[in-house]
Amino acid sequence: MSDKSIENREDIMEKLVSLAKRRGFIFQSSEIYGGLSAAYDYGPLGVELKNNIKKAWWKMFVTDRQDMVGLDAAIIMSPKVWEASGHIKNFTDPLVDCKKCKRRFRADHLLEAVPLSPQHDKEKPIDWKEVKCPECDGELTESRSFNMMFKTFMGPVEDDASEVYLRPETAGGIFVNFTNVVDSMRMRVPFGIGQIGKSFRNEITTENFIFRTREFEQLEVEYFVHPDDWKKHFEDWLETMKTWCKCLGIKDENLVLAEIDEKDRAFYSKRTVDFEYKYPFGQKELYGLAYRTDYDLTQHQKASGLKMEYTDPVTKEKYIPHVVEPSLGVDRSVLACMIEAYTEVAGGRSTTTESIKDSEVVMKFPYALAPIKVAILPLSKKETLTPLAHEVYDAVRSKFVTMYDQTASIGKRYRRQDEIGTPFCVTIDFDSLEDKKVTVRDRDTMEQERVAIEKLVEYLVSKFAAYEKC
Ligand code: GAP
Repeated sequence: MSDKSIENREDIMEKLVSLAKRRGFIFQSSEIYGGLSAAYDYGPLGVELKNNIKKAWWKMFVTDRQDMVGLDAAIIMSPKVWEASGHIKNFTDPLVDCKKCKRRFRADHLLEAVPLSPQHDKEKPIDWKEVKCPECDGELTESRSFNMMFKTFMGPVEDDASEVYLRPETAGGIFVNFTNVVDSMRMRVPFGIGQIGKSFRNEITTENFIFRTREFEQLEVEYFVHPDDWKKHFEDWLETMKTWCKCLGIKDENLVLAEIDEKDRAFYSKRTVDFEYKYPFGQKELYGLAYRTDYDLTQHQKASGLKMEYTDPVTKEKYIPHVVEPSLGVDRSVLACMIEAYTEVAGGRSTTTESIKDSEVVMKFPYALAPIKVAILPLSKKETLTPLAHEVYDAVRSKFVTMYDQTASIGKRYRRQDEIGTPFCVTIDFDSLEDKKVTVRDRDTMEQERVAIEKLVEYLVSKFAAYEKC
């Protein structure tokens, strides 16, 4: 046995996608009909992990703070919202088509894969005849703008008047409720509104499992500040986001903060810092922090004719607040958390009852985020043990998400739990009938402790509290 974790990240994705399906984390959407590309369903363990991430975010970014409140706005909003925000005009990606094989590519992604010759003058517009289709070497069309908003119709008549959009970012619902929140909650600047919800983008290219999909979930804060104070708040949120990344288990060396050039920033942003993560398929965006100025509130004031001004209750100064926006993706959080957790131990880890020689996978999730918190493993299926095992199961289940497993050898059952990242396994054996104690095994240290059944829940609560980072 070797206790060295495999550090080669390149081959992790294939193994992770397979584990995600086999162990009930993430399934291909509509799989029995051949699947829908780039759409995924979260299985029983995936939904627990995702909910734990969302709960931890809500606590850290909303309820733990005095300057934050929450919101849950509708996904379908008036199209006037997206006209005013500029999304109908500007929420586009550059698209090129292959004239031969008819495949479509996002122009900027294509240039990452098929770079221009080193002699190319960067100031000159790209001549797409110089670049060839990476699939068939065919000629490409000129680049054109493609709007990423999903359109649908509201009500029984499908005409222009009933056309609506699925929101491309949760932020829109926050901006249009700014005055509702200020008035109903008596919020004073600086304050923020947090929201978790689905967003939809008709991405030209989707890629890398749940990294880029057309339906995804966001965790967003719009933080309203005095125009003179945005720099300070920007720095504060930068630090909060770094702390959050630690809570997900992201190691410092896998995170890169990138200042985004003006030409690459979203149309509403004056400053953006991307949190890039070193995924096994390359360094790409995980989250973004943007300074949206007073752009959105001003646009909505102009378009709606209603005042979006804030009056300072002390100085009586009237102004449209500026906005600092930490914007995070739930699915990318799940992905990064799973990649960080994935640990392969060559030669396996020794167990009390048997020695397993082949390599073993341990999902080292932060304990607070693990989908299943405790596993109850009676040593035998014999009837004499079952009532006590169920008694322990019921007690633990009332406090923690718990799994009961009585099939296969104890070594195999430990491995099953390690593979889904369960922090504690509780074994009930024949001695338990006499001494009313059980054995608790810690996932990471593999240490085992004998604990009185009547103190078990209390013991687990204190263990989780000791491990809790978020
Ligand atoms: N309100 C600002 C905003 O939406 P964004 O950078 O376009 O900014 C924020 O998106 C975050 O949402 C990204 O950093 C990423 O985590 C997530 N996200 C964006 N597009 C996504 C997609 N197609 N699939 C999965 N997650 C996505």
